[in-house]
Formats: sequence, C-alpha cells, structure tokens
Amino acid sequence: MNGKVAIVTGVGQGIGFEIVRQFVKGGVRVLLNDRDEALARKAAERLNGEFGDGASQRCVAFAGDASDVAVIRRMVDEAVRVFGRLDIAVANAGLTVFGDFLSYRPEMLEQVMQLNLAGSFFLAQAAAAQMRAQGDGGSILFMSSVTGHQAHKGLVAYGMTKAALEMLARGLVIELSPYRITVNAVAPGATMTERTAEDAGYEKTWSELTPMGRPARPEDIAQAVTFLVSPEARHITGQTLVIDGGWTAISPGPS
Ligand SMILES: NC(=O)c1ccc[n+]([C@@H]2O[C@H](COP(=O)([O-])OP(=O)(O)OC[C@H]3O[C@@H](n4cnc5c(N)ncnc54)[C@H](O)[C@@H]3O)[C@@H](O)[C@H]2O)c1
Repeated sequence: MNGKVAIVTGVGQGIGFEIVRQFVKGGVRVLLNDRDEALARKAAERLNGEFGDGASQRCVAFAGDASDVAVIRRMVDEAVRVFGRLDIAVANAGLTVFGDFLSYRPEMLEQVMQLNLAGSFFLAQAAAAQMRAQGDGGSILFMSSVTGHQAHKGLVAYGMTKAALEMLARGLVIELSPYRITVNAVAPGATMTERTAEDAGYEKTWSELTPMGRPARPEDIAQAVTFLVSPEARHITGQTLVIDGGWTAISPGPS
C-alpha cells in the first residue's frame, strides 16, 4: 500500500475517517472528502499530525458534495494534481433517510439515490478512467450495508441502494477487469459511529442482537476495506464482504 494514492468520500467522521486513518498509517496518500469543510480540514490536520513527517502531507482535504458529479470529477482531477496519480477510490459517503414506504416522498428517494448510487457510480467512473489511463490497475470499493441483504423497517429505499451497489460491483467486473481494476464492496452491520451513538440505546440493542456480542467498531470495517484494496487482494473482484459479527447469518431473534 505504501506510496499508493486514494480518494475516500464522506470521511469527516465515522467509518470513513477510520478507513483514511488505516490508509495513511500504511503509507497511502489520501485526498479525503467531506461536504462539511471544517470536518474535512480537521480530519486532514489530525491525520497529518499523527502520521506526517512534517515535510510532505499524507492527506489533503477536499470539501464538496459527493453526490454532485461535477464535484466528483474535480475530486479526481485534484488527487492527480496533488499526488500525481490515483490507485484507490472508496465511495464511502452514504445517506440514510428513514421513512415508511407508503409515505416516502420523491425528494427523499432522490436524495438517497443521488448520494448512495449516483455518487458511487460516477466516482467509480471518474476513478476508473484515470486508472485506465495510468495503465497499471487499481481498486474501487463501494460501501454497502446489511440492509442491502435483509429487510429493515423504514429502510426500504436505503436498502435498495445498497443492494444495487453490490450489483454495480459485480457488473463492473466485465467493464474494468481488462484494465486490472478490481471492484468490491463491504456490507457493515450496525457500527458504532458518532452518528449511531446519538441513539442512546444503540450499543445495548446491537450488543444483544449480534452473535459476537457487540456492534462493529469503525476499525473492523476499515481493516476489511484496507485488505480489499490492497495488492494482496488483487485476484478478488465483484465481491461483497459482510462485516456484521454474524448477525445476518442467523437473523435477529424474536423481540
Ligand atoms: N454506521 C453504520 O452503522 C453503518 C452500517 C452500514 C453501512 N454504513 C455505511 O457506511 C458509510 C459511512 O457511514 P457512517 O455512519 O460512518 O457515516 P456518517 O453518516 O457518520 O457520515 C460520515 C460523513 O459523511 C459526510 N457526508 C454526508 N453526506 C455527504 C455528501 N453528500 N458528500 C460528502 N460527505 C458527506 C458527513 O458530513 C460525515 O462527516 C455510509 O455509506 C453508510 O451508509 C454505515
């Protein structure tokens, strides 16, 4: 991984921040994105402080909306301008808009589809075009969810986008294998992040429901992502790795 260049979206906090942390720790240079400019800047400062050598920046912040195709294309251009190339793209940014199917409004669906699907699709497209031009392969990773595998109350739209991302990873095998670009996804189960921790009962509920006795930590997801985009995983493509402490294997019991 040392010397590779990555883009990761939606990383001001949560799972994405930890993915960047693992990358930077392994010597990857990262263009890190968040739509919240202050969060993006703080994340870059923190990681440059923790891992930087003072002379060169390990990561650079790029503020912008990862659902906007023009922003995505600028992001790829900027990674190449700053670091000279692009080897890894992680479409981590994703939005959960809860709601019952019968009252779900078009603008709710539009928002979820635009970030989770269009944002991931066009990041993969822009990144793959750059990787093809470089001629020495690359890795793309989508952030799915266990909600793409099982029905969840209030999450039918979100789950649909996550299932679609897994099919996108499989579909791109045809398009991108000739350029030695791998495309995979991870599907986390309940994960403790700043966002989910706002729900006071989250940790207790998911500790009880998860066979391994706790919700995931961002490191659990980040380590799997790091493997899937590493040279060690060069022959793995079109796959989704579920990281849920065994939850989908048994399905939740009656409550
Ligand atoms: N946390 C979980 O339990 C869980 C479980 C399964 C899958 N996921 C998926 O993992 C990914 C990360 O989840 P999380 O809970 O760590 O994220 P989160 O909701 O905490 O958001 C992380 C960051 O993304 C940024 N962001 C939001 N919209 C953006 C946009 N349009 N453009 C750029 N940045 C944007 C936010 O400002 C925030 O800093 C998502 O795709 C999510 O669907 C999360």
